Amino acid sequence: MAPPHLALSAPSPWVLRFAALLPEGGTVLDVACGGGRHPRAMLGRGHAVTMVDKDTTHVADLADRAEVLTADLENGSPWPLAGRTFDGVVVTNYLFRPLFPHLCAAVAEGGALIYETFARGNEQFGRPRNPSHLLEPGELLTAFPGLQIVAYEAGIEGGQCGRKVVERICCVKVREPVELPG
Ligand SMILES: C[S@@+](CC[C@H](N)C(=O)[O-])C[C@H]1O[C@@H](n2cnc3c(N)ncnc32)[C@H](O)[C@@H]1O
Repeated sequence: MAPPHLALSAPSPWVLRFAALLPEGGTVLDVACGGGRHPRAMLGRGHAVTMVDKDTTHVADLADRAEVLTADLENGSPWPLAGRTFDGVVVTNYLFRPLFPHLCAAVAEGGALIYETFARGNEQFGRPRNPSHLLEPGELLTAFPGLQIVAYEAGIEGGQCGRKVVERICCVKVREPVELPG
């Protein structure tokens, strides 16, 4: 059977909605990219894409069009993108809290962080159940000091195909109000 992340091929509507905030042709980093559903969508929108995962075999086909980095982000090695910034930073269905400051620092001035993952309560419906992989209620609201929150959602969603508990945020490194994408 395919690993769970490979079953996810459609981009998240949340990511697509807030991708509209990113400048045309801007740079995008996807952290823990899995099968590359968001890098693929971002390439389709004309962005210059960098992606990182400990297992990049499922995005090997993108290596001629994007920067594909293979790195274990949890083994104590230095953050592989130190000193680099991106117009968009995307993280979905992945949580490793020590990365929060690196994610924040990786957002360029004027850029956006788009994050969506499972939250506490999800254990009643399925995986992940490990608390270290589940956000605490409201956790994303305080995870990225210095970034301005544009939108946040938290709750249960899904129907017959399975319910889940999620938290999502989009925040930006700008001071002024931004035009909300529809
Ligand atoms: C559930 S998948 C999500 C994939 C993708 N973000 C998505 O939403 O389609 C989680 C991803 O995290 C990656 N991952 C897990 N532990 C990691 C680590 N220590 N370092 C880097 N990537 C890791 C896995 O290889 C997998 O691709």
